[in-house]
Amino acid sequence: MLVENVRVTMVKKRLLSGEACPKCSQTEELLRRRGLWDRIDDVVWAIEGDATSRGMKLAAQHEIQLAPFFIVEAPGAEPEVFVSALKLIKAHFGKATSRPGPVADVEPFIASLGDLDGPELVAAALKVFGADCGIAFSGAEDVVLIDMAAKSGESFSVFSLDTGRLHPETYAYLDRVAKHYGISPTIVSPERTSVEALTAAKGLFSFYEDGHGECCGVRKVEPLSRALKPLRAWMTGQRQDQSPATRSDVPTAVADVRAHATLAKLNPLARWTSAAVWAYIRDHNVPFNPLHSQGFRSIGCAPCTRAVHPGQHEREGRWWWEDATKRECGLHLGPKPGA
Ligand code: ADX
Ligand code: SF4
Repeated sequence: MLVENVRVTMVKKRLLSGEACPKCSQTEELLRRRGLWDRIDDVVWAIEGDATSRGMKLAAQHEIQLAPFFIVEAPGAEPEVFVSALKLIKAHFGKATSRPGPVADVEPFIASLGDLDGPELVAAALKVFGADCGIAFSGAEDVVLIDMAAKSGESFSVFSLDTGRLHPETYAYLDRVAKHYGISPTIVSPERTSVEALTAAKGLFSFYEDGHGECCGVRKVEPLSRALKPLRAWMTGQRQDQSPATRSDVPTAVADVRAHATLAKLNPLARWTSAAVWAYIRDHNVPFNPLHSQGFRSIGCAPCTRAVHPGQHEREGRWWWEDATKRECGLHLGPKPGA
């Protein structure tokens, strides 16, 4: 059987608690560790207590009572069902370790998206890039994207930049989201030597004195370049109304030209308002950072984030000692030369 002609569906179970069943998460992790995750074409959820969910219907159709399980379809052959990932690997993934990705030039891809946004844009991007598209995750909007990605049934990956200065609540939240969706985000840390050089020269709070650029460069921008190296696309939760001074023109899709490659950068919520994002969070029971209930609206690193009063713009809680036009950490200002 030719590997290229095989379509593999993984059926995962979502428990009543909303979390993925632990065995399903472990199996996904195993496939990822072996570099085989992009061989799974489709992920379908069997939702506990919902016999009409697609995964439950497939389980009934194939008389399977275990999760996860895999359905392998090839043209002209009966579908094969596997309840063991190891047997699936042996039968179908033994020889080839990775499948050639779909050929996608970034500019034509972006043009093909037209006016799509929200869940339609998330699904369209993941259909082309799958796990080669990384969702940049730190806050509420990003979990909306993760929720949309999980519901699309397509493969995706997630990364977080651990600056080392996030709130304890944010660290706990990153972990909670991973468990809730049964995902294993890649956590990218800053280069130790660069952090040590900065703190040796200027201490731990230099940003209050000479601006946040240097510290953000070390703790966010350089790690982002590394996070993007293996990817062909990435997705962010930026919105135009997040910052009148710096984000009013954020596009839903743009070519991100880096030294190693040109990536597609997707901002599926660019045209969404804050109210629309929070309506989605409520309607879909999306987990959110408890700091939002304490007046924090835009959340970054602890020393550079503060709560805002009702009526204040959310961006006023970020780098408040600096000019409004400078309140960008550099993640979205394009790469530095060579990055
Ligand atoms: S920032 O440039 O001011 O720090 P902001 O907090 O508004 O950015 O977040 C905008 C988007 O950038 C988020 O939706 C997320 O996609 C990405 N992002 C910001 N911080 C991080 C981080 N620490 N890790 C991963 N992605 C991040
Ligand atoms: Fe450093 Fe503040 Fe930027 Fe975080 S937000 S990387 S602590 S300057």
